[in-house]
Formats: sequence, C-alpha cells, structure tokens
Amino acid sequence: MSLFHTPCAIRSTGAFRLLFTQLISTLLNAPCDIPASYPADVGLDVLHKNKFDFIVIGAGSSGSVIANRLTEINNWNVLLIESGSDPPIESDIPGFFPFTFHSNTSYEYFSEKSDNSCKGLLNETCFIPRGKALGGSSSINALIYARGSPEDYNNWSRLGNVGWDYENILPYFKKLEMVNKNDVNHDTHGYFGYQYVEYFFDAIEKPIKLLQQSLYDAMSEIGLHLVKDITTNFTTGIGKILGTVKHGVRQNVAGSYLSPIKDRNNLYVLKHAFVTKILIDSHKRAYGVKVFRDNTYTKILVDKEVIISAGAINSPQLLMLSGVGPKEHLNEFGIETIENLRVGYNLQDHVAFVGAAFSYESGQTDSSDTLKIMDDLYMYLTRRLQLGSLGGMNSVLYLDTTGISPGNPDIQSYFLILRGKSLELSTFYNSLRVKPEIIDTVLKIEGEYIIFPVMALLRPKSIGRIYLHSTNPFDQVRIELGYFKNEQDRKVMTKGIEFLEKLNATRTFCERNITLTKINIGGCSGNWDCIIRHMTSTAFHQVGTCKMGPSSDPESVVDSKLKVHGVRGLRVADASIMPNIISGNTNIACMMIGEKVADMIKEEWLKPTKDEF
Ligand SMILES: Cc1cc2nc3c(=O)[nH]c(=O)nc-3n(C[C@H](O)[C@H](O)[C@H](O)COP(=O)(O)OP(=O)(O)OC[C@H]3O[C@@H](n4cnc5c(N)ncnc54)[C@H](O)[C@@H]3O)c2cc1C
Ligand SMILES: *[C@@H]1O[C@H](CO)[C@@H](O)[C@H](O)[C@H]1NC(C)=O
Ligand SMILES: *[C@@H]1O[C@H](CO)[C@@H](O)[C@H](O)[C@H]1NC(C)=O
Ligand SMILES: *[C@@H]1O[C@H](CO)[C@@H](O)[C@H](O)[C@H]1NC(C)=O
Ligand SMILES: *[C@@H]1O[C@H](CO)[C@@H](O)[C@H](O)[C@H]1NC(C)=O
Ligand SMILES: *[C@@H]1O[C@H](CO)[C@@H](O)[C@H](O)[C@H]1NC(C)=O
Ligand SMILES: *[C@@H]1O[C@H](CO)[C@@H](O)[C@H](O)[C@H]1NC(C)=O
Repeated sequence: MSLFHTPCAIRSTGAFRLLFTQLISTLLNAPCDIPASYPADVGLDVLHKNKFDFIVIGAGSSGSVIANRLTEINNWNVLLIESGSDPPIESDIPGFFPFTFHSNTSYEYFSEKSDNSCKGLLNETCFIPRGKALGGSSSINALIYARGSPEDYNNWSRLGNVGWDYENILPYFKKLEMVNKNDVNHDTHGYFGYQYVEYFFDAIEKPIKLLQQSLYDAMSEIGLHLVKDITTNFTTGIGKILGTVKHGVRQNVAGSYLSPIKDRNNLYVLKHAFVTKILIDSHKRAYGVKVFRDNTYTKILVDKEVIISAGAINSPQLLMLSGVGPKEHLNEFGIETIENLRVGYNLQDHVAFVGAAFSYESGQTDSSDTLKIMDDLYMYLTRRLQLGSLGGMNSVLYLDTTGISPGNPDIQSYFLILRGKSLELSTFYNSLRVKPEIIDTVLKIEGEYIIFPVMALLRPKSIGRIYLHSTNPFDQVRIELGYFKNEQDRKVMTKGIEFLEKLNATRTFCERNITLTKINIGGCSGNWDCIIRHMTSTAFHQVGTCKMGPSSDPESVVDSKLKVHGVRGLRVADASIMPNIISGNTNIACMMIGEKVADMIKEEWLKPTKDEF
C-alpha cells in the first residue's frame, strides 16, 4: 500500500513536496527555458496613483488574452486582477498534471449530491477543480488542444449571435496560435500567434510505444482510421493530439500572452486579489469593483469598462452578488436586483466515465514506484521525455454512437497509459477524489501497464445550474451539474462502453494480451450502469452560466458583443458565455473568445463617434 493511499494523502502536494523541492532546484539550475517570468504584482499603492480605462477580472484563458490585446493601445491603462499568483513550477511539467488540483493553485469545488453520478468519489459528490493562478485553468489543465466542430459555432450563430459562426471566428483561432509547422501545415491553422502548440512527444519506453500503436491498430480493425490533423477535421476516427506544450513544457495562457508583454507600462497586474463585487450605479452603469487584498477591501474605479473573465463558476457568482441575476433567487438572500437575468442557468459540461481499464503485461521486471518516478524525472530534465505528456497519452478518439461514419461524433475518448500498481496510478485516482477503497481495487488490477480510457459525452443534453449558497463571496456556490438527468445521455455513454468491449474483442488486443477490466465497485456486481453512476468525473469543461443570446432569448445574460443585458460598461468574456457547449475541450475556444471580444472593444472605443455604452 502506498503512502498516498491514506486519508491525509488526498492532499497529495504535501507528500510530493520533497520531490518537488528537489525538482525545483534542479530545474532552476538547468540551462533551459523554464520557468516563464510573469508580470510583477503592482500592489495596492498603485491603485491610488492611477486611473484605469479597463478592469479585467481573472487572468485565465480569456482574461490573459484580453489584457494583452487591450494594452496594445498605448493610452489605455488596463488593470488585470487575479486572485491567484504565478503558477508553481511543477505545473510546467505535463506529466504532473493532476498534482496541482489540491494546492493553492486550484479552487476545489464540489457538486451537489446526485444518485446519477460520482457516487464512487469522496463524499459522493463530483470534484470540480478550477485554476487559481495567472493562466487560470490553463495552468492546471490537461493541455489538450481542440476546437470542437464548426457546427458548434454555426449553431451559436443560428441562435441569434451575429458574428459567431465558424467562418467569422476562424481568423481568431488562427490569430491566437503558433503551431509547430513540422506537425501540421495547413491554412486552417495559424503560425504567428502567442500560443505555442505542438504534438506531445511520442513515447520511447517500449511498452508504452507498443500500447500506443496497439490503440491505432485495434481502432483500425474496427474501421476507425487515423485522421490527419483531427483538430480541424471534426470527424469520427482517431488522431494525434496537439497540446499547449513546447518541447515538453506546459504553455499556459499567461506564459504565452502576459510574459512577453510584462513590461508594457500600461499593464497593471494585481495578484492575490479577489473581486467581491462589481460596483453599479443607479443608472445601471458599472463604475468599478470592490476587491479584497492584504486583508482589506478597496474600491477601484474604472473609466470605460469592467470585463468579467472569472470563469464559468466564479463569473455568475460575482454577477449575482452584484445584483445581476434571477430576481426570485437574489431575493432569498436579500440582494437587491439591478437586472433580472438568468445568471447561473444553462450550466453545461462534458461528463466523463472513468470506470474501465485495459490491463497489459509487458513481461519486463519491475522496480519500485518511487524509483520509476525519479527515473522519469531524470529523463524529463535531461531529455524532456515521459513526463512531457500525460501518461503516454498521444491520441484522441472521436466516436459517433449513432453508427454514422464520418458522422457527427458525440463521444470523445483519451487513453492514458499508466504503470499498474503504481504511485502514478493511485495519484491519478486520488486526484479525481475516488474513494480509497475503490483505489485499492484499481491497484489490485494485474498488469504492468494499464490503459485507462477517459470517455466523455461531447454534447450532453443534461443541463445544470449554479446557485448562490450565501452572500459571502468566499463561499463556494451551489453547483448542480445535472449529469445524466436526461436519460438520453446515459444511453450514449452505454454505447461508448459497448465500444470499449468491441476494442477488447479485437484481434490486436487479444493477441497482445490487452484486456478490458471493469473497476470493481462493491454493490455493483459488474453492472455497467451501476459503474457509470459511481465512476463519473467532470471532464473539466463547465460552460454556459452567463449565456450569450439576443435579448429576445429569456435565458441569455450577455449579447453577442458580450455586454450584460441592461447594464452599461460591463461585459462577461470567458467560458460562461457559450450558449451551447462545444464538441471538444474548451481552453482554445476561451482564448478565441478573448481575442474576439478585444477586437469588439477596440472597434467600439476607437470609433470616431462612439455609441453610448
Ligand atoms: C483540471 C482541468 C483540466 C482541463 N483540461 C483541458 C484540456 O486538456 N484542454 C482544454 O482545452 N481545456 C481543458 N480544461 C478546460 C479549460 O482549461 C477551461 O475551459 C478554460 O481554461 C477556462 O477559461 P476561463 O477564462 O473561462 O476561466 P479560467 O481560465 O478558469 O480563469 C478564471 C480566472 O479568474 C480568477 N478569478 C476567479 N474569480 C475571481 C475573482 N472573484 N477575483 C479575481 N480573480 C478571480 C481565477 O483565479 C482564474 O485565474 C481543463 C480544465 C481543468 C480545470
Ligand atoms: C501558494 O503557496 C506558496 C508556497 O507556500 C506561496 O509561495 C504562494 O504565494 C501561494 N499562492 C497563493 C495564490 O496563495
Ligand atoms: C466531505 O463533506 C464534508 C461536509 O460537507 C466536508 O467537511 C469535507 O471536507 C468533505 N470531504 C472531502 C474529502 O471533500
Ligand atoms: C447543432 O444543432 C443541431 C440542431 O439543434 C444539433 O443536432 C447538433 O447536434 C448541434 N451541434 C453540432 C456540432 O452539430
Ligand atoms: C477529414 O478526414 C477524413 C478521414 O480521414 C478524410 O476522408 C477527409 O478528407 C478529411 N477532410 C478534410 C477536409 O481534410
Ligand atoms: C496476460 O495477462 C495476464 C494478466 O493480465 C497474465 O496473467 C498472463 O500471464 C498474460 N499472458 C501472456 C501470454 O502474456
Ligand atoms: C475482455 O475480453 C476477454 C477475453 O479476451 C474476456 O475474458 C473479458 O471478459 C472481456 N472483458 C470485458 C469487460 O468484457
């Protein structure tokens, strides 16, 4: 039984501290390009000496982009307020992906209990980490690059959001990225942007290489072929994944967008500062924010606009606390309603199934866990290998469970390759907050390597909601994820599992002794439906809680310029504005939203005759 397998080890950063300390000193002494140097913290004093044209709340995937683009205008002073600080050095290492969940670099949120999902997780609630640092969730995410389907954006446009169809936003996807030309070379990509993107390394460890190849071979046997540049060709098949990674080092959005411009003298970054309220006057105009920092509350005024980019959980909370939200709900807390809008509704997310594993015996002799990880570290530091990706994961599968090919995929799956009975396996499950007794059974699975499929619904029909829990801004909101509320979603997930059984039955897997195992859940007796209810996780893509739509849409909170309906000088620009979740990972789309809103803001304020806003 490993050290990480005790109740206190749930906060595994503590246990890993020694390792990290050694690592950090090694990294700092290594002649390499990490760590990124981030903009300095301006401190509270500067607030009294300066006037700000724009205040951006949250230095995450959207906010970092917006702060960069707005400060391109020399005479605009921009204050970027972030409740976290610089991302820790371990976050730069992709293979350490889940370790940052239980540290001060993350918010650790929980969902409401439900009989449909997450029953195998601690407290039987879904665990929802969100990034709390410069770079926001891009500093703790799984680095996977995706855009979703062009039809996602065309659907947004069909809902009345002018300018958000794929053709109109494609220039922003291209503008934001700098794709390694050796990896993909196509005019649907950009090569001059701030965000570096490339393929994860191919494995060099023999068994991992073999397993990666076996996945391709088995899929091909079933008729799912390798798709070239699957990021811009949304179709059923398997493809190599691009990552927000450069030569094995994470490229979080703050490192990409803020570090290169950290010395611009019109950029002011305030760290360790939590915005608790948007100040809105009696003419319904946002005129500043109230911020908590150094144990004091300070009011900061703004000349032009406040832009909320606090993410899909915090943005709706902040709006509601400021009097923008559903009236009857705000009344419960004695909050005076300034604008009655459906803030917090329309919570959408990709629900993931994590209850199956493929085991594989490589026939090689084993050494102890800790030594293996130290080997990996050494290899990483010298040649940036294994830990340069997430558990040997280098491909993504898109599946259309309606059986149509090329089709409109409704499931996405990744295949992590982890050593069996190992520290990395238990750490991974610990990071998802799986119950210790279930991790015990996972650690008993025979096999030197485990292929661990993470299978997510791309366009689930179930919708959740975020509620205030109290008027205390530091209190977590109530999060109702609503997973599997709509029966159709369970059917699609069940089809996904049938696909795993198909893989299990391929000649490739049989010949290579790669065998599907159900995670053994007490009381489930191997029933898949029961396992789904227990082994559920978020795929970390909460969106939609400040829905974009025309004022004729009663559910909408912001218009297509991302301005809050009925309030002047206030926009929301982050994952929360998505009217419908995209059919892919959300980070790059959030960056696109940042790029687009920055252009809309510039267009408006730089026009010779400006409409009153
Ligand atoms: C664990 C994890 C794995 C993921 N994996 C992937 C992946 O592999 N690929 C992918 O494309 N997407 C992934 N995602 C999703 C993607 O990273 C997010 O959708 C995206 O980063 C969200 O961007 P955002 O701008 O909406 O919010 P965030 O990036 O979360 O930024 C919000 C920022 O606002 C700050 N903030 C919040 N409230 C306040 C306040 N009141 N005052 C001041 N600051 C505040 C926060 O500290 C944070 O820095 C993952 C997410 C997580 C959490
Ligand atoms: C997190 O903890 C580290 C080490 O204790 C500290 O240096 C850092 O400033 C903390 N970050 C935040 C956001 O509090
Ligand atoms: C479980 O819930 C209790 C009560 O809400 C809370 O105090 C505790 O921190 C939770 N445990 C975990 C591991 O989240
Ligand atoms: C777009 O909307 C249509 C009609 O509502 C829906 O069938 C489809 O799944 C949506 N998304 C995509 C990516 O096609
Ligand atoms: C997308 O991939 C499929 C399958 O590999 C291929 O047939 C098709 O031509 C590709 N489409 C584009 C636009 O590249
Ligand atoms: C196949 O794997 C099982 C356990 O996963 C192992 O016991 C067995 O020896 C393996 N067989 C071969 C031929 O490798
Ligand atoms: C996978 O296939 C093996 C035979 O190769 C079979 O014994 C096993 O039951 C299958 N696993 C599942 C979960 O279907």
